Amino acid sequence: MKIPVDKPVLVTSALPYVNGECHIGHLRTYVPADIYVRMLRKMGYDVRFISGSDTHGTPIVLSAEAQGITPEKVVEKYHEHFRQVFKALNVNFDYYGQTDSESNHRRTEAIVKKLIEKDYVYKRVTKQAFCDTCGRFLPDRYVEGKCPHCGDIARGDECDQGCGKHLEPGEIIEPKCKICGNAAVFKDQEQFFFKLSTFADFLSSYLDNLGGTLNARNYAREWVKKELRDWCITRNLEWGVKFPGRNDLVVYVWVDAPIGYISFTEELLKGMEGADKDWRKYWKDDKAVIVHFIGTDIIYHHCIFWPAMLKGAEYSLPDAVVASGMVKINGGTFSKSRGNVIWTKEFLERFHPDTLRYYLVSQSSHTKELNFSWDSFYLRVNNELVGVLGNLVHRVLTFAHKNFAEVPEGNIDEEVFAAIEKRRDDAISAVEEYEFKKLVDAVMSLADFGNRYFQRAEPWHLINKGEKGRESCGIVVKNALQILKAVCILLEPVMPEKMSEVWRQLGMESDVHSAKLDELMVPIESGQALGKPKMLFKRIET
Ligand code: 2FM
Ligand code: ZN
Repeated sequence: MKIPVDKPVLVTSALPYVNGECHIGHLRTYVPADIYVRMLRKMGYDVRFISGSDTHGTPIVLSAEAQGITPEKVVEKYHEHFRQVFKALNVNFDYYGQTDSESNHRRTEAIVKKLIEKDYVYKRVTKQAFCDTCGRFLPDRYVEGKCPHCGDIARGDECDQGCGKHLEPGEIIEPKCKICGNAAVFKDQEQFFFKLSTFADFLSSYLDNLGGTLNARNYAREWVKKELRDWCITRNLEWGVKFPGRNDLVVYVWVDAPIGYISFTEELLKGMEGADKDWRKYWKDDKAVIVHFIGTDIIYHHCIFWPAMLKGAEYSLPDAVVASGMVKINGGTFSKSRGNVIWTKEFLERFHPDTLRYYLVSQSSHTKELNFSWDSFYLRVNNELVGVLGNLVHRVLTFAHKNFAEVPEGNIDEEVFAAIEKRRDDAISAVEEYEFKKLVDAVMSLADFGNRYFQRAEPWHLINKGEKGRESCGIVVKNALQILKAVCILLEPVMPEKMSEVWRQLGMESDVHSAKLDELMVPIESGQALGKPKMLFKRIET
């Protein structure tokens, strides 16, 4: 999606449940979102980037029960954990909140009240899974059974192992209590429903115009075409945002979680000049572009529940939903119990965060599944980061530093500017198509061009051929440094730390993080002192 340059942009990244540690499967959403934001800023957009911890729902209370601590403690522990991981990976949110904040409670209550006032919510007695042994209702992840759609093992609100469909309370077949393992029974219970079915026409035209990736639109369209059933928006839980006027019920976590996007915008802007005006600009007056980055497992929630809720409560609608494919490990799904999991913190103890960022986007196209294997990681690092990029940086900077110590005099060749311009255009289209692999491929092909350019010109022969030879050599070096400068600007969104190192070695005084794409065509300044070259990436021995 091409965004008009004068429109402010709000980019959100799905809120992780803070019920356990971050594994690399989580990162498939956050890293590309961060890359997208950094690229948009380079393209000149005014962007705000937010996310936060999803602190409610059964993922949190079950984790608390398992650890024998309160939900508050679980939230505190893992909220901090996720913040640290994002910091280590340079995923730079402008604001990272949590859905149990006061303002999110307030905003959720206001939205639910508005939906009630507009007659979109009604009460109905439903069958709910109940465990006689534990003496309690079993919402969502408290219950396991068979999926009514595909027959696979599923949990109460989602067929997580099978077809991925959202399940309404009472739909699961042969329910069992997750706490004690006994068969559950269905009991009558009063709940509140949102009239999702009345939004079918609205949703089908909304989805026709929705930006983002095709997988999100197509999946959601199928659902709207089939049938939209009303949505149960309350649960029998203590922990959560109370349903207005009912102390025994909280709203379903999928109500207050996306509302977090709104509350975090408010929290970010609080205290800033024009905060109220700004807040309305994003969520009320439709003056901004809203882009959600999510995983394919939560398309239904973001393309159906969420826009219907926003429409019903009279808020601005998201303009694009970008859904990343899931991550597998050695061909298998993530499983903590089977040990098929890679924890981000452990990964970062061994490898530089930029290598992980690079791997995550270069390994497969954004909407496709990514199958992690150590072999594929080593290959990316050794062949591409060491073999192509590291090689270019090393040979050009070492030669330039040794023979000139500063950027030599000379003009930039037409051929070099043309090569850079082409990659810039490819990079912009890649970002507009959310094809981050194409972005990386475009820049790596520029690095490859740089290696060939340097090799072909053989500056090491020119340097010893008198004054004229030295002059010609200087021109080659300056052009190679220009290519490096361009690579730095275009790869900074993917590898911010490493590109900042190269930027300094190039003797640039500015900050590569704020360098705009316009600078790609500005010749690197002759006479600026080059830094001492340092190896960029180390080979990984398998
Ligand atoms: O699926 C999840 O991990 C949810 N915590 C995502 C919430 S995203 C948003 F809508 F809040
Ligand atoms: Zn299923």
